[in-house]
Amino acid sequence: MGKLVVLTLLGVGLALVGERFVAFRERINAFRDLEPVEPPNCHLIEGIENGSEDIDILPSGLAFISSGLKYPGMPSFAPDEPGQIFMMDLNEQNPRAQALTISDGFDKTSFNPHGISTFIDKDHTVYLYVVNHPHMKSTVEIFKFEKQQRSLVHLKTIEHELLQSVNDIVALGPEQFYATRDHYFTSHFLSLLEMFIGLQWTYVLFYSPREVKVVAGGFSSANGITVSLDKKYIYVADVMAKNIHVMKIHDNWDLTRLKVIQLDTLVDNLTIDPDTGDFS
Ligand SMILES: *[C@@H]1O[C@H](CO)[C@@H](O)[C@H](O)[C@H]1NC(C)=O
Ligand SMILES: *[C@@H]1O[C@H](CO)[C@@H](O)[C@H](O)[C@H]1NC(C)=O
Repeated sequence: MGKLVVLTLLGVGLALVGERFVAFRERINAFRDLEPVEPPNCHLIEGIENGSEDIDILPSGLAFISSGLKYPGMPSFAPDEPGQIFMMDLNEQNPRAQALTISDGFDKTSFNPHGISTFIDKDHTVYLYVVNHPHMKSTVEIFKFEKQQRSLVHLKTIEHELLQSVNDIVALGPEQFYATRDHYFTSHFLSLLEMFIGLQWTYVLFYSPREVKVVAGGFSSANGITVSLDKKYIYVADVMAKNIHVMKIHDNWDLTRLKVIQLDTLVDNLTIDPDTGDFS
């Protein structure tokens, strides 16, 4: 009798693991065969050989690119090199990527940039908000961009207990931003388990010097985040759930989910077309 119970429990346990595995396979489509496609009008940008993670393009055509991310579970091209921010002027005939210098007083050796967002204030000064993972923690760094000097002047490091496992950021005002958390557990093993069983514990948070709060939850892995051209809506890509959430911004910065667009692919960074407002 005792043996029968153990065998039954074992059977149920294995069936559960099997079911989770099939669901996980379905979710990530990792075993699907894809035909290689040679994309037209694409060429390799030289000089960013240690990986490009995120890109943000100013209305003037200046692009910023974060490079050299080291993140648990992601391959790193140069594990011993600090990360960098590159700039490219897309107005040039043959735009070249140039690394920006960073002002002293900022720990460049542990710089590990992830999602980035630009913010232009009313005096047309350009600020770069960068999700950073120094020693695998999560901080947000605010830099002022000096175009002539091709440099970033470090202004501030933001740390907060809700700023954990941060992936991407969208700056909406001076020291005001939304950011996504892409996994819940900080232990690498538990974060893999969380992905495997499909927990939906990640969120979007809002930060301002006066208030920090979670404004949307229930994501498997909240990833790319961006704002509509009229600044009324936020778009969040949930990479593991393969969908994009459209959310309305309220006056107090809370978000309400308006719709979820289900897609059959792993969605990551989002970009808004400056002319049409379409996102891709
Ligand atoms: C988007 O994000 C992925 C992983 O987070 C990264 O590998 C890729 O380079 C990013 N692409 C852009 C255009 O930001
Ligand atoms: C890329 O990493 C290598 C070390 O692996 C380093 O020598 C090289 O300078 C890095 N390149 C850039 C553009 O940072």
